[in-house]
Amino acid sequence: MSKYIIEGGKKAQGEIVINGAKNSALPILSASVLCNKCVIHNCPGLTDVKAALNILEHLGSKYKIEGNTVILDNSNIVNNNIPDDLMREMRSSIVFMGAVISRCKGAEISYPGGCELGPRPIDMHISAMKKFGVSIEEKGGYLECKVKDKLKGCVINLPFPSVGATENAMIAAVNADGNTTIYNSAREPEILDLADFLNKCGAEISIDKTGTIYIEGVKKLCGEAEHTVISDRVEAATFLCAAAVTKGEIMLKKARAEHLTSVLPIFEEMGCFVKSSSEGIYIKGTENLKAPKLIRTMPYPGFPTDMQSPLMSAAAVSDGTSVFVENIFESRYKHVAELTRMGANIKTEGKVAIVTGVPHLHGAVTRCTDLRGGAAICIAALNAEGITQVNEISHIERGYENFDGKLKALGLEIKRER
Ligand code: EPZ
Repeated sequence: MSKYIIEGGKKAQGEIVINGAKNSALPILSASVLCNKCVIHNCPGLTDVKAALNILEHLGSKYKIEGNTVILDNSNIVNNNIPDDLMREMRSSIVFMGAVISRCKGAEISYPGGCELGPRPIDMHISAMKKFGVSIEEKGGYLECKVKDKLKGCVINLPFPSVGATENAMIAAVNADGNTTIYNSAREPEILDLADFLNKCGAEISIDKTGTIYIEGVKKLCGEAEHTVISDRVEAATFLCAAAVTKGEIMLKKARAEHLTSVLPIFEEMGCFVKSSSEGIYIKGTENLKAPKLIRTMPYPGFPTDMQSPLMSAAAVSDGTSVFVENIFESRYKHVAELTRMGANIKTEGKVAIVTGVPHLHGAVTRCTDLRGGAAICIAALNAEGITQVNEISHIERGYENFDGKLKALGLEIKRER
């Protein structure tokens, strides 16, 4: 199993380009099942993207990868089943549900995998599909999804703005008979990017200021589409944390400040200087990093759960005490045990973590607990005195393209070893 060896104490300096967003690319690849030929630019090179391509290939799709562009030919989708081993590769496999049901008038899929962040049910996905007239039966760990004739447009009131359930419902609605309205939908930038992609395919989707999504079902999509995935706000925030803990000065090209409105003010509160422009986001760290007072994770535009763990590593080496409240996932503090091995002072109780900053962390042998938790450990290691060994980095490679290469490009000491 591969690992990173990180020597802390260097300052991050220079510029890097932020990749396309994983959480946009994955639902867009699922939605591509509805469109025969697609060219997707700025698609990040990640193991989760490879997992999505493996599912597409199993369904009958053919693809080529040229740099960060994926060229898909979905004209011959022949299978409507997704086997358990492919489904378990990642959580986002569930977003194939709406697309396959719509295209093949049915689907047979098992349950998705993904990061262990506590129970991750799919009840909202299932009840949304039922609203479209899909009958769903569980047989031997598989969900047998059947449609009599066509999916029927409907009104969906999500009990919580689930990102994945919103995406599945949007995709299913595109070719349904009649109109669909999704209330209390997720409003993440990745949802807008998916709508943008589907509209380029010929869908009729509009979203009002409250985030309600209106979809006019169309008989057929245009069959060819080209789209560029938006840049990854979680990757950008992770590198902002790298600059903060190393008192560095970096430019994140292509990072989009308008997707980070609840995040950038926290870095300013911590004493960093942040400037955004059409080119990207510039950050200059400070010698006296101050603890952010209160971080409460919320659906967008609130503070994102995916940025909670990297920011906690910055809070762990700042001056003062921070309170974190994780409101989205039940078990997203697994990285805390690893940070504690490195000398962090963090106490958790249910949803709450109290982080009391220490002047310096120290190197240790650690392991990635999940994707963002793994990134958080690397951020902490950049500050730590001595060497940190970060095991099980396959978690990180699910969501960050060339993570070690980008840190190296910023002058930081990191080696990937087998
Ligand atoms: C997406 O996951 C992201 N994944 C996650 O990114 C992100 O953390 C999450 O949204 C929240 O922003 C992708 O986009 C591929 P949800 P998703 O449905 O769609 C509960 C990362 O590190 N829920 O909005 O799975 C659920 O258990 C990751 O990049 C139900 O109860 O998130 C959770 O508590 C990991 N029933 C909450 O809703 C359901 O049917 C939010 O989940 C669905 C969800």
